[in-house]
Amino acid sequence: MAENPEKWLILILTTYLAFTVVLSTKDPLPKKTYIVQMDKSAMPASFSDHLEWYTSKLQSVVSTTQIEGNANNEDRVIYSYHNAFHGLAAQLTEEEAEKLEEEDGVIAILPETKYQLHTTRSPLFLGLEPEQSTRIWSDKVVDHDVIVGVLDTGIWPESASFNDTGMTPVPAHWKGTCETGRGFEKHHCNRKIVGARVFYRGYEAATGKINARNEYKSARDQDGHGTHTTATVAGSPVQGANLLGYAYGTARGMAPGARIAVYKVCWTGGCFSSDILSAVDRAVADGVNVLSISLGGGVSSYHRDSLSIASFGAMEMGVFVSTSAGNGGPDPVSVTNVSPWIATVGASTMDREFPATVKLGTGKAITGVSLYKGRRVLSANKLYPLVYMGGNSSNPDPSSLCLEGTLDPHIVAGKIVICDRGISPRVQKGQVVKDAGGIGMVLANTAANGEELVADCHLLPAVTVGEIEGKVIKHYALTSANATASLGFLGTKLGIRPSPVLAAFSSRGPNLLSLEILKPDMVAPGVNILAAWTGEIGPSSLTTDNRRVKFNILSGTSMSCPHVSGIAALLKARHPDWSPAAIKSALMTTAYVHDNTHNPLKDAAAAAPSTPYDHGAGHISPLKALDPGLIYDIDAQNYYDFLCTQELTPTQLKVFGKYSNRSCQNTVASPGDLNYPAISVVFPDNTSVSILTIHRTVTNVGSPVSNYHVSVSPFKGATTKVEPETLNFTSQNQKLSYKITFTTKSRQTMPEFGGLVWKNGVHKVRSPIVITWLTAS
Ligand SMILES: *[C@@H]1O[C@H](CO)[C@@H](O)[C@H](O)[C@H]1NC(C)=O
Ligand SMILES: *[C@@H]1O[C@H](CO)[C@@H](O)[C@H](O)[C@H]1NC(C)=O
Ligand SMILES: *[C@@H]1O[C@H](CO)[C@@H](O)[C@H](O)[C@H]1NC(C)=O
Ligand SMILES: *[C@@H]1O[C@H](CO)[C@@H](O)[C@H](O)[C@H]1NC(C)=O
Ligand SMILES: *[C@@H]1O[C@H](CO)[C@@H](O)[C@H](O)[C@H]1NC(C)=O
Ligand SMILES: *[C@@H]1O[C@H](CO)[C@@H](O)[C@H](O)[C@H]1NC(C)=O
Repeated sequence: MAENPEKWLILILTTYLAFTVVLSTKDPLPKKTYIVQMDKSAMPASFSDHLEWYTSKLQSVVSTTQIEGNANNEDRVIYSYHNAFHGLAAQLTEEEAEKLEEEDGVIAILPETKYQLHTTRSPLFLGLEPEQSTRIWSDKVVDHDVIVGVLDTGIWPESASFNDTGMTPVPAHWKGTCETGRGFEKHHCNRKIVGARVFYRGYEAATGKINARNEYKSARDQDGHGTHTTATVAGSPVQGANLLGYAYGTARGMAPGARIAVYKVCWTGGCFSSDILSAVDRAVADGVNVLSISLGGGVSSYHRDSLSIASFGAMEMGVFVSTSAGNGGPDPVSVTNVSPWIATVGASTMDREFPATVKLGTGKAITGVSLYKGRRVLSANKLYPLVYMGGNSSNPDPSSLCLEGTLDPHIVAGKIVICDRGISPRVQKGQVVKDAGGIGMVLANTAANGEELVADCHLLPAVTVGEIEGKVIKHYALTSANATASLGFLGTKLGIRPSPVLAAFSSRGPNLLSLEILKPDMVAPGVNILAAWTGEIGPSSLTTDNRRVKFNILSGTSMSCPHVSGIAALLKARHPDWSPAAIKSALMTTAYVHDNTHNPLKDAAAAAPSTPYDHGAGHISPLKALDPGLIYDIDAQNYYDFLCTQELTPTQLKVFGKYSNRSCQNTVASPGDLNYPAISVVFPDNTSVSILTIHRTVTNVGSPVSNYHVSVSPFKGATTKVEPETLNFTSQNQKLSYKITFTTKSRQTMPEFGGLVWKNGVHKVRSPIVITWLTAS
């Protein structure tokens, strides 16, 4: 977060305005896709079938405005939705959409929106072995009957990570199917991949027909992203996983015994909301227990974001939904997927790195990272000319960024070129240097990435260095007449300290939709993650990359999300009766906020430790989440009642009433009273409000008789009082409530962070606390 509070507020405002501007832009096309949400219960008795009713509604607005000869209006319908959501997706003109919005039974009309995969496309090579504890734990758990639906780019079914040897038959309650298409046959589904479906009608309506010769119009994964995330969720153990000889080890998903259902919603041109909605709707009907969605980019409101609406329906059906927080860090207010009923996952490092060195002509050696491996190995100690095309200025220019067409071969041929990180993909900068005749690259972080070292599988010898070291190298190159350097590659190193460290790219709070709901919820490994890869494209994802690998390393919150999906599957297997909120509570209250040097978690993008706006409740601790002691449970009505506090109109609220009889029951008095496992109190700008009280209820899921006592960290700006200070449980699943009162001592200009812990000698049930004092603008 910026040091300056004013700057911080301006950032919030501009972000907010930017969203608004994007939203109000009109599409020039005469027809586009709209998602039409219907009130299922309002169907007149004259109809026997919901789809028939939905289509007749559509026709009533279309027929009067449509004078075309071929007015087969059923062609306008792209999808109908019947499970997590009710209604249809259809091609309409803006005028038709407006008309339809007025019709009885129509709850909402949402324009199609485009979502992005949350990867930073940082392919590199590493052997991901889950931490020891995860491995031991997942071996003990009978997790075979949990099914995880993955919404992504599809799957590479031949990967050894999807080998179903030793798995029991597919459970009878599974209602999914294996859709076939080019490159995807019935036999590609097995006891591991229990379902595969594709969703492209919204995509085609927006971008034109998929060229089936260039792109698999089937569940087969061309991109690699879906294969990678799916294997991270539930990949079977693969011994000797390695890339080009590096990082030998056993690769396995978080829940190796869980089943996978593939829902392909992303195509070369992106992922569209009507397809995503249809996939969630299908997945819920198919019977998934967990949904893993490494996508984002929806609208920033609860009632107009189709992922938010569909995931509400999934949550009502008991499905745990895990999503990625986004890669918009370190900017504040960059977090996406902020609905309280889903898990929002940020990214952090593991204790593994791929060290590489830059040795300067002066003899100085600098350590960075690399996954380079290839024939173009520079002679070990030979020094090569070193060049930096940027000037002595803090603003990078196009050639310092090594953008395409900006490097003069006369200058860079035969040299090691320094390139600043930013704008273009990292591996592409390497390609640009190579094309200009450069023999190596030093990739320097800028302030946006700080000291976060993301390794890449470059096409030429290349080393990535942090911002501080990058400045040293650039200064040397700019000030020495004949600067030289050599590059060295040192393989894989484990036991890196400190770790975990919050990734610079991981999206940050606060959550402007509801300051009272802290987001992201938690962080999980998302930097340099090894998992299965497609056979269609090389590890750098560049079309010029002819290498083919079975495993690849990626970074992004796209990679951290499936870690949580997999752990959630394990929790569900062990505790089949737990609600999605209970699973999230267990993950959050057992998360840790210290690294392996016992210091507070660091932020790769800042000198200061990371805060709950960056890491939420902290880093997941799977073993502890299995036995959390207490949980903060929330049911669908509570979430609905939370929405009732969000100043939505009755029509906007209706979007969430799958059963239209749901009404505000006032179980949540104020947004801060939602029984969330994190606490965020917001003092209004009215300075006469100096006392705020919030309420929580915990459920005992540990020993029947257990006495907990509370402790709360101190705050500069407020005193706290918890009542009662002890919770004495006498039975299992017993619920006890407490309240916590915050009294302002002195209003702070910046939010204050801390935590509340219930302890019984065995369990520590921790909630992060954020206190914000709003100022009048
Ligand atoms: C699946 O795993 C089994 C046991 O490890 C092995 O024998 C078999 O060859 C594997 N099948 C494939 C297709 O990799
Ligand atoms: C840029 O110039 C200033 C003043 O001339 C100097 O102090 C600084 O070290 C230079 N920076 C680099 C990267 O060379
Ligand atoms: C730099 O290199 C050029 C040509 O390679 C040479 O003429 C010059 O003497 C060198 N300067 C220094 C300071 O080494
Ligand atoms: C709404 O109706 C459904 C089905 O009729 C019923 O199961 C449910 O309990 C009702 N919910 C509320 C909040 O009244
Ligand atoms: C500020 O809060 C006080 C105490 O709750 C209340 O009496 C007063 O009306 C509030 N003032 C404004 C401007 O809202
Ligand atoms: C819980 O038990 C402790 C002693 O075991 C007692 O001091 C405390 O008052 C009890 N708390 C409540 C809320 O009953």
